[in-house]
Amino acid sequence: MDHVIQIKNPCIPLEFDLSRPLEVEVGCGKGRFLSNRAEAHPECDFLGIERMLGRVRLFDGKCRRRGLDNVRILRLEALYAFHYLLPAHHVRTVYVFFPDPWPKKKHHSHRLFGPLFRSALWKRLERGGKLEFATDHREYFDEVCAGFADDGRFERVEPMPRPREVWTEFETMFREKGLEINAAAWRALDGDDSPLEPLAIPPEAEPREGIPRRS
Ligand SMILES: C[S@@+](CC[C@H](N)C(=O)[O-])C[C@H]1O[C@@H](n2cnc3c(N)ncnc32)[C@H](O)[C@@H]1O
Repeated sequence: MDHVIQIKNPCIPLEFDLSRPLEVEVGCGKGRFLSNRAEAHPECDFLGIERMLGRVRLFDGKCRRRGLDNVRILRLEALYAFHYLLPAHHVRTVYVFFPDPWPKKKHHSHRLFGPLFRSALWKRLERGGKLEFATDHREYFDEVCAGFADDGRFERVEPMPRPREVWTEFETMFREKGLEINAAAWRALDGDDSPLEPLAIPPEAEPREGIPRRS
C-alpha cells in the first residue's frame, strides 16, 4: 500500500481565468521581473513559483503596493507544481532565471532541469509556448542546452532580449560583478501527450538516520 497521498487532479487552475494567457516564473525570488512584466501586461496573468517564504512575502508586498491583480504567487517546489497543479498545454511562457546551479557534483541531482522537469514543462506549455532560461553558470547552461537538444518535443529559438528593465535581482548582482550571462530559449512542439507518471519520493524526503520524523 502506498501511504503517500498523490494529487490526482492535474488541472487546478488556481485563481486564473483560463480564457486569458498565463506566464509562469520558476524561482521568482523577490519578484522584480514578474511584477514589472505584470504591470506592463494587464491582458495576461502571471504566476510566480518560489519555495522561500521570505522571498514570497517580499514579492507579495511589491504586488500589493503596486495594486497588481493579475499576479499570484505559489510557495511550492516547482517540479511538484508543474507536475500536478498547472493546467495542461495552457502556459504561454515559462521563465527560469538564475536557478540554483548546485555546482558540486554530489549535488547535481538537486538541479531543476532534468527529464522529469522537461516532461512536466512540456505538458504545461501551449504548443509553440516558450521556455526562457538564463544563468551565469556556464557548465549548468551547457548541461541544460544538451538536455533540450536531445528532446524532440522542443526546438531552440532566439532568447528574449535582456535590457536592464528585465533584469532580475540576481542578474543585476551578477552583471555588477561582471559575470557572463548565458541565455537560451526553446519552443514546445508536438509530442507524445501521455499522462505523467506519479513522482517518486526523492530519497532526501525520507527521514535520515538519527533525525526523528515529526509527528
Ligand atoms: C538564485 S535564486 C534566483 C532568484 C531570481 N530568479 C533572480 O534571478 O533574482 C533561485 C531562486 O529559486 C528558488 N528555487 C530554487 N529551486 C526551486 C524549486 N525547485 N522550486 C521553487 N523555487 C525554487 C530559490 O528559493 C531562489 O529564490
